[in-house]
Amino acid sequence: MSAFKNIAVVGGTSEIGQDLIKNLLATKAEFDSIILLTRDPDSVASKALTAAGAEARKIPSELSAAAIPALVEALKRVDVLVSIVGAQALADQVHLIHASVQAGVKRFFPSEFGVDLDLQGSTIPFLGVKVPIRQLLRSEEISSKLEHTFVENGYFMDGFFSSFFGWEISGTSVAVNIPGTGDVPVTVTLQSDVARFLAEILRADPAISRNKTLKFEGDRFTFNQAREIVSKAVIHVPGVKSTFSTTFTAVDTLEKRFETAEGYERAQLQMLLATVRGQGLLSHNHNKLFPNVKPTSAKEYIATLF
Ligand SMILES: NC(=O)c1ccc[n+]([C@@H]2O[C@H](COP(=O)([O-])OP(=O)(O)OC[C@H]3O[C@@H](n4cnc5c(N)ncnc54)[C@H](OP(=O)(O)O)[C@@H]3O)[C@@H](O)[C@H]2O)c1
Repeated sequence: MSAFKNIAVVGGTSEIGQDLIKNLLATKAEFDSIILLTRDPDSVASKALTAAGAEARKIPSELSAAAIPALVEALKRVDVLVSIVGAQALADQVHLIHASVQAGVKRFFPSEFGVDLDLQGSTIPFLGVKVPIRQLLRSEEISSKLEHTFVENGYFMDGFFSSFFGWEISGTSVAVNIPGTGDVPVTVTLQSDVARFLAEILRADPAISRNKTLKFEGDRFTFNQAREIVSKAVIHVPGVKSTFSTTFTAVDTLEKRFETAEGYERAQLQMLLATVRGQGLLSHNHNKLFPNVKPTSAKEYIATLF
């Protein structure tokens, strides 16, 4: 039986959030309430979660300082707040933290779900916004009143095989542009597996995750190994010519492009450069703490793409 009885998820309409809430609802008797904090309780995703048994509580559309009183109200009788908010709301988690303290929430999981933030946060500007949130949670002021758990999983496996990382996969045709030589390993984890890992943390003895960083790895591979797995999975349709093209972009070309890149391209180049510098690989993992979660391998996932 879980020691945490009332679990709230903000950003629960994200992919991980939906899977997490459904997973917790599958053993609903273990909990008193599974609460979705959402800006829009009438969205398709929110309605599907309430139909499945979650309680929806509406929160202000801006998670600003002015929203704190409403957030405190929404967090009444909540033991744990799991934040899975997207990029636009990451900095505003500071207000979620203060509201959690005021509402008497015991544990806060910030929205992270990526690479090792203590090691890499300062050198990947794209991720820098998450660093002050960790610092606030570790500060004496907050940590004396609110526990935290940080969850790292490397790159999302379901995001890795996309154009953001240089892949174009459609039926019998694959093209990949590999950053550097393609020999540097990265950690990749399916979002649904991150959700399963989170659910197991919430069911387990809270001491296991109290004020800890827990690392979870679905799989690890180099770009060249990923390319090899994809090449074996491509379907060969009689009469249809399969195509598979591989190109490489040198690291200094990526660095040069990064100097002037903006917006989406800038974020993309930061992740490609992080990859070639080995920053996407988790040093170790805590998979063994939660043996019920058998993560999906790259080979199993890639088989679903064709
Ligand atoms: N490791 C990786 O490869 C990787 C890749 C992508 C993302 N991530 C991380 O995963 C986490 C979730 O990212 P995501 O892309 O899945 O999130 P997302 O889909 O962009 O957003 C998740 C939820 O956050 C809520 N939200 C969005 N903007 C908000 C705002 N301005 N104010 C309040 N709530 C807001 C929304 O819920 P409602 O509309 O219901 O309120 C939304 O469904 C982030 O920490 C992100 O950095 C990691």
